[in-house]
Amino acid sequence: QALMELDKPLFCIAHRGGSQRYENTLRAIERALKLGVDAIEIDVWNVRGELLVFHDRRLSHAPFQDALLVQQDPKLLRQTALPCGEHIPTLLEVMELIGDRALLNIELKGPGCVKAVSHQIEEYVQYGQGSYESYLISSFDHVQLHKLSQRLPEVKRGALFAGVPLDYAACCEQLNAYSLHACIGFLRQGLIDDASARGFKTWVYTVNHEEDMGHLAAMGVDGVFTDFPEKVLALNEEFRQ
Ligand code: G3P
Ligand code: MG
Repeated sequence: QALMELDKPLFCIAHRGGSQRYENTLRAIERALKLGVDAIEIDVWNVRGELLVFHDRRLSHAPFQDALLVQQDPKLLRQTALPCGEHIPTLLEVMELIGDRALLNIELKGPGCVKAVSHQIEEYVQYGQGSYESYLISSFDHVQLHKLSQRLPEVKRGALFAGVPLDYAACCEQLNAYSLHACIGFLRQGLIDDASARGFKTWVYTVNHEEDMGHLAAMGVDGVFTDFPEKVLALNEEFRQ
C-alpha cells in the first residue's frame, strides 16, 4: 500500500545513527553507512569541554544511575560501556568515521555547544579533512542555532520544532535555515506546502512505519528521520525501478 503512494524518493536520515539498540554509537553509524543512508543524525552535548554523542540528559546505566550527563567526567563516561556494549563516541570520532560518505546532522543538545562545535568543524575542514557541505546543524534551541549561523555561516542549519510555533517561517528565515525539522505528530499539509514554496526542505522525525513513510512522501515531505533506514531505502528502491 505504502509503495503505491510514494511519488518521490525520501531523503533517508538515520535517526541517532539509525538503530534503537545501538543509538548514537559508531556501530549504528557504520551499519547505516553500509546500508547507504543519505544522512546520519546524532545528538551532541558539551560535557565539561568534550563534545560527546548521546541522547539523554540523564544517565541510566551503572555506575552513573540518574546523574546528569553534563556534570560527569567525560573520560570516565567514554571508558564505561553502555548497556548495549558499545561506548559513547566523541563528535570527532563520528566525523572521522563518516568522512564524506553521508551528510552529518549534528543536533545540539543542552547549552554551550556553539563555540565548541563550530571550532571542531572549522579545525577539521581547515586541515583538509572534510568540507562544510558535509554538515548540517540543528537544534530545538534556536538561540544557539542563530549564534551558529553568525559564527559559521558556511554550515547548513535545520530548525527543529517540537510542535507548531506561531510563526515558523519567520523563525526559519531569521536562521537562514536550509531545512525545517518537524514532528510527525503535528504535521499538516499546509505547513509542508508553505515550507516548500519558501524553499525550505521539510524533514520529519521520527518515522518508523512504512505506512507513514508512504503518506509523508505523498504529502511532499523531502526527508525522514528513522530508526529503520532499511525500510526507507527499500521504498526508495521500489520507486526508482
Ligand atoms: O533531530 C530529530 C530528532 O532527533 C529530534 O528528537 O529527541 O530524537 O533528539 P530527539
Ligand atoms: Mg536527535
